[in-house]
Amino acid sequence: MLVLLKSNYEELSREAGRIVASAVRNNPAATLGLATGSTTIGMYKELVRMHTENGLDFSKVATFNLDEYLGLAADHPQSFHRFMRENFFDHVNVDPAKIHIPDGTFGGDYEEYCLSYERAIREARGIDLQILGIGRNGHIGFNEPTSSFGSRTRLKVLTNETIEDNRKFFSAEEEMPQCAITMGIGTILEAKRILLLATGSAKAETVAEAIEGPITASVTASCLQLHPDVTFVIDEAAGVRLKQRDYYRRVMEMTARFTPNRLS
Ligand code: F6R
Repeated sequence: MLVLLKSNYEELSREAGRIVASAVRNNPAATLGLATGSTTIGMYKELVRMHTENGLDFSKVATFNLDEYLGLAADHPQSFHRFMRENFFDHVNVDPAKIHIPDGTFGGDYEEYCLSYERAIREARGIDLQILGIGRNGHIGFNEPTSSFGSRTRLKVLTNETIEDNRKFFSAEEEMPQCAITMGIGTILEAKRILLLATGSAKAETVAEAIEGPITASVTASCLQLHPDVTFVIDEAAGVRLKQRDYYRRVMEMTARFTPNRLS
């Protein structure tokens, strides 16, 4: 695993944008796994900038979002559909037919619906690059603590901590969704490459647990230690609890010197 320590959020966002752009340039028909959340906003801004200024072309890319709140329609201000449109899709040339986000208003057979999401990922030949944020409780997607490492796309009940963390985005009188449809840990681990972004001191503890702690379903991001190609892009504040920070810096220097392809 590579741990890239960046001095602040702007640098983190630039680096994440650079990695995604490079994946798309190397494979214009790449399948991207996308995340929402405040951490990813700077990265999407950077990608939009590269599209506008440098013609970065997303026309052949397919995208699969990690998750959506159950009960929220695509035009709800807090839905992940809306987040993706406002922060990314409305400003770039991804083909709408190739955009996949779980439908929060689906009301039929959830198991069948989630299987069809998995099928669509397989039909797109799997995810080439999966972007992740991390929750304060260590979740990736909405795989809350104790999620099975073998889990697939499914309906997931949100923890109180996640509900509290996201309440600020909803109006006072509005009821927070209690559930989400999320890709599973097993789904995420099948991506060929994974990029996890973390910013700010509120994430420092969980970032250290995910990277240097034991592999445990209590911190689902720790499953990434099992994946052969993960890059963590972390700013100073989110990285303060990492014990091996100097080592990660040396690894970066040596990687740039001997195997620079791993950083592209
Ligand atoms: C969102 C998602 C979540 C967020 C995580 C961090 O699609 O899957 O796992 O990445 O909750 O959210 P922020 O960046 O808002 O702290």
